Amino acid sequence: MKKIFYTSSAMLFLTLSHGGNIDEGKKLFENKCTACHTVTRPNTTEAMNALIAPPIQGIMLHMNMNFENDKKAMMIFLKDYVMNPSREKALCMPQKIDRFGLMPSLKGTVSPEELDKIANYLSATYY
Ligand code: HEC
Repeated sequence: MKKIFYTSSAMLFLTLSHGGNIDEGKKLFENKCTACHTVTRPNTTEAMNALIAPPIQGIMLHMNMNFENDKKAMMIFLKDYVMNPSREKALCMPQKIDRFGLMPSLKGTVSPEELDKIANYLSATYY
């Protein structure tokens, strides 16, 4: 019993200390966000016209411009927007809401813990 406990806490420690959180965030991002958001801007007109949401790379560019290097403020914004999107809060260009409509709230689809990891992954990947 004791041995199992020590083994599992050692594994937990290894996962945390090897950026398991970031990998987990990446997987969660792929599961919860890429149904609508592509990662990069497509390079053909057809693919551009087929977009149903702005590519994440562009969104993160706007996030970084708005929050400069304040990762903490950016993560707070991201976590709030995903749960409670609104036209007033949106930081990217307003035309995108006219084109794509407002992002639906992901409340109930993504948990606050999952969103924490996703925001962590995004802020560590795009800067
Ligand atoms: C059902 C489709 C859909 C899903 C799923 C989705 N989004 Fe969005 N998202 C949109 C659309 C459409 C927009 C553009 C309109 C807007 O800004 O509300 C958008 C915009 C955004 C913005 C820009 C906000 C701003 O300031 O303008 C962020 C940030 C964002 N999404 C993050 C995420 C994250 C993170 C996830 C996954 C947890 C996610 N989205 C999942 C459709 C989606």
